[in-house]
Amino acid sequence: MDHFYITTPIYYVNDKPHIGHAYTTILADVLARYHRLLGVPTHFLTGTDEHGQKVQNAAARHGISPIEHCNETIVHFQKLWERLGITNDDFIRTTQQRHIRVVQEALQDLWDRGLIYKSTYQGWYCVGDERFYKDKDVQDGKCPDCGRQLEQFEESCYNFRMSNYQQQLIDYIQAHPKFIQPDHFRNETLGYLKKPLEDLCISRPKSRLSWGIELPFDHDYVCYVWFDALVNYISAIGYLHDEEMFRKWWPVNYHLIGKDILTTHSVYWPTMLMAMNVPLPQTIFAHGWWLTNDVKMGKSNHNAVNPMDMIDRYGVDAFRYYLIAAMSLGQDANFQEEFFNTRYNAELANDLGNFVSRALTMTTRTNGGAIPPAVGEDDPSTQALVLLCKKAVREMPDAIDNMHLDAGISSIMTVVREANRYWSERKPWEMAKEGRQDELNVVLRTSLETIRIVSGLLYPVMPEKMAVVRRALAIPEDKLAPDYTMLSQWYVLQDGAQVTLPPPLFPKVQLEPEEPAAPANAPAPAPKAKKAKKDAPAEVVTLDEVGKVSLKTATILSAEKVPDAEKLLRLQIQLGAETRQIVSGIAQWYKPEELTGKTIVVVANLKPATIRGVESKGMLLAAKAGDTLRLVTLDGDIPSGVSIG
Ligand code: ME8
Ligand code: MG
Repeated sequence: MDHFYITTPIYYVNDKPHIGHAYTTILADVLARYHRLLGVPTHFLTGTDEHGQKVQNAAARHGISPIEHCNETIVHFQKLWERLGITNDDFIRTTQQRHIRVVQEALQDLWDRGLIYKSTYQGWYCVGDERFYKDKDVQDGKCPDCGRQLEQFEESCYNFRMSNYQQQLIDYIQAHPKFIQPDHFRNETLGYLKKPLEDLCISRPKSRLSWGIELPFDHDYVCYVWFDALVNYISAIGYLHDEEMFRKWWPVNYHLIGKDILTTHSVYWPTMLMAMNVPLPQTIFAHGWWLTNDVKMGKSNHNAVNPMDMIDRYGVDAFRYYLIAAMSLGQDANFQEEFFNTRYNAELANDLGNFVSRALTMTTRTNGGAIPPAVGEDDPSTQALVLLCKKAVREMPDAIDNMHLDAGISSIMTVVREANRYWSERKPWEMAKEGRQDELNVVLRTSLETIRIVSGLLYPVMPEKMAVVRRALAIPEDKLAPDYTMLSQWYVLQDGAQVTLPPPLFPKVQLEPEEPAAPANAPAPAPKAKKAKKDAPAEVVTLDEVGKVSLKTATILSAEKVPDAEKLLRLQIQLGAETRQIVSGIAQWYKPEELTGKTIVVVANLKPATIRGVESKGMLLAAKAGDTLRLVTLDGDIPSGVSIG
C-alpha cells in the first residue's frame, strides 16, 4: 500500500457530539494510527458540515447568525477530538473558502457541460436528514428513513443528471466487490439501484434557505447541502487547486460512514464523481449504529450518551478500547455502561493491568528493576507464549485490512490471558524464594517482552496508557509509538535497563446503582404481568399478551454459514430502516444463496442472544413437519419492517 487516506463523515453542527460521532472518529483514528505504525504514508480527514436547513434552524433557535452558531458549535467537536487523542491531519469546515470555491467550480463545470439543468421540484424534504423524497416514497407525510415529519413543497430547481449514471454505477459495484463494504450494504445499494434512479435536485431557492453556497450560474439559489458536503473529501486534498497533493491521496482508501448515510455515499457521491471524471473511492465502509435500549443514539437527545461522562469515569483510553472492541463492524451494538464496566474491569483492570503490574513489581523486587538478560526459552510454556505473541503480531495487519478490529483485539487479549496463566503455571515467586535465578530471569524477560509487544499492538487503540507502559519498560521516547517490524522480533528490550513502576493503569470502577435501593419494608410493586396469566386459562392468551410479541416483515440481504456450526446460518436482514443480524438453525434446509431477497417474518423484539459467539437479534418464523422445514414468507410484495397483527 503506497498511501492511506481515510475520512469520517463531516458532522452537522446543529448539535453537540455524542458517542455515535465519537465512534466513527475513533475508528478512523485507530486505523490511521495502525497504518502509520506499518509505515504507510497516512492522511486522516475529519470536519464539519455547516450549511443547510438544519443548521440554519438551529442558529435561529439560538437567536444568532448561522456562522456564529457554527463557530460556537465546532469548538465542542474540536475539544472532544483533542480529548480523545484524535490525530487527524486536517479539519475541513464547509464554510471555508478552500471548500466553497471547489464546490462552485465543480457546479459551473457541470452546468457548462449540460449535466445540470433547470426544472421544477415537487415533493418532500426531511430537514433532519437533509434529503428529498418523492410522493411514491412517502406515507402520511413521514420520512421513509427516519420517520420524522416531512416538509412538502413545489419550486423551481436545478437538477443534476444522476440518472445518466445508473447503469455505469451498477456495473462498477459489480466489478469492484470491495467498493461498498460490508457486503450487506453493497447488496442494499444494488437493491436501491434496481428502481429507476432519478435526477437529483441540487438547489434551494434563497427565499427558502439562504445558508449555503451560492450557485455560480444563478445567484437566487444556494447549493443543496449534500452536494456541497460530499465534495469536502476532495476539496480538502487540493482538487482543482493542488494537483500534486490530490494525486498523492486520491482515490481515498476508506470513506468511513454510519449506515444512516449509505445512499448519499454509495449513490449520490459516485455519480457526482463520474460526472466530474474523477476516479471512485476504493472503499465506502458503513458501520452500524450505537443504540441505547435498541433505539439509535442521537435521534432525540434523550438517549444520547455524552462521551465526556464516560471519559471522566473510565479515562480516554478505556473508552476508545471499549468502542473498538465491542462493535463488530457492520452490526449495530447497544451501548450500556453496565457492559462497558464489566469488560473494563475484566479485560483492562484484571487481565492487562494486573499482568503489567505483577511483571514490573517482580522485576523490581527480585532484580532491582533491571531487565534480566536474554537467556533462552527452552521450556514449553515459555515457547508457547512466544509463539502466541508472534501469532498476534502476524494476524493484526490482516484484521486491520479486513476491518475485523474486534477480532484483532481479542487475539491480543488472548495473549494477555495466556501470560497470566503462564505465571500461575511457572510460579516465579517460588523461583525467587528458592533462588532459582536463571529460571526466574526467563520468566521475567519473557513477560517483559510480551508486555512490549502487547503494548505496541494496542498502541493505536490506547495511545496514552500504552505510552505509560512502554516508558515503564525503559523504551526510549522516540520508540514509544512502535515500528511494526520491531514487534515481530524477540529480545528487543535493553538488557539491564531499569524498569519503573507506574501508578495503576486501569483502577477498578464500581458501577453506581442507578436508583437508590428500596428500603426493606417498602411494599412490593403489584405483579401486573402475573395477574393476566391467572385470569386466563393456560391455553388461551389475551390480546395484550399477543401484542407483546412484535412480528414484522423482514427482507434477507445476505446469508452465510457460521464457521464450525453445521446447522447455523448468519443472516443480515433489513427491517424497515434498520439492518440486523440473526442466527438461525436452518442450514440443513436452505442454502445461503437461496435466501437472499426473500421476505420473511421475524419476532423483532426478542431479547438479543449470542449463539456460538455470534450475536442474534430476533428470530425468524418457520414451520417444521418431520424432516421438512419451510420459512414463513409473504405471498406478495410488501416492504420490510411492516408490523404483522
Ligand atoms: O449525516 N451510532 O452528519 P451527522 C454510530 N453531515 N454512529 C453514529 C451514530 C450512532 N448512533 N449517530 C451518528 C451527517 N453517528 C452529514 C454527513 S458527510 C459528507 C455528511 C455517526 O452529524 C455516523 O458516522 O448526522 C453517522 O454516519 C454520522 O455520525 C452522522 O453524523
Ligand atoms: Mg444524522
